[in-house]
Amino acid sequence: MKNNIAIDGPAGAGKSTIAKKLAADLGYVYVDTGAMYRAFAYYFLSNGIASDDEAAIAKACENVDISIAYVNGEQQVLLNGENVNGVIRNEEVGNMASATSIYPVVRTKLVELQRKLAEKQDVIMDGRDIGTVVLPNANVKIYLTASSAVRAKRRYDELTAKGVECDINEIEKDIIDRDHRDMNREVSPLKQAEDAVLLDSSDLDINGVVERMKEIIREAGK
Ligand code: DC
Repeated sequence: MKNNIAIDGPAGAGKSTIAKKLAADLGYVYVDTGAMYRAFAYYFLSNGIASDDEAAIAKACENVDISIAYVNGEQQVLLNGENVNGVIRNEEVGNMASATSIYPVVRTKLVELQRKLAEKQDVIMDGRDIGTVVLPNANVKIYLTASSAVRAKRRYDELTAKGVECDINEIEKDIIDRDHRDMNREVSPLKQAEDAVLLDSSDLDINGVVERMKEIIREAGK
């Protein structure tokens, strides 16, 4: 039985930054499940398939194969064998991933892949349904959140540092819409598992969150 740590939470709470750091410190493999939903979304966008066309999405799913590989410890998502890491990290793909992850046909294949990854190695896996659906027996479950204003400010700082012009109110609105969709869908909605520890990062920096998570993991191991 491998050690599994599940981290769930809303968009922009810092899950991937924190999970990556924690995985490196603890010697676990980091599995970013959002990237898998993004790869599916990228396929739909590239093939002109609308997010509300369930029949076309179901048909397209027959032609989609998602797998992952690691290069220098970094997860790479392969869409039908092609590395799509460079094209899935933008708002358009993120919103499409949120809109199309509501369909069971999209989720089933990915949940199977995620469980296989967790069976063969110690993983820190982040997403929306890891503690509730994918790994209900994970050794440690953490629900990482932050206020929408703080999440919007972090995203705004990240984008402006890259020279991208943006409006913080638009970013916050987008975050609230995405939260609403992810938390209110019928299948595997985002919610805190009953046995998950709640961690609010609104007033913590990255190192503060990593340290708090290490404490939670130590306490769970006792
Ligand atoms: O974490 P992220 O922003 O890369 O995820 C993109 C979208 O994918 C998210 O808004 C909802 C969906 N998702 C999901 O439904 N289940 C997961 N385990 C991970 C992501």
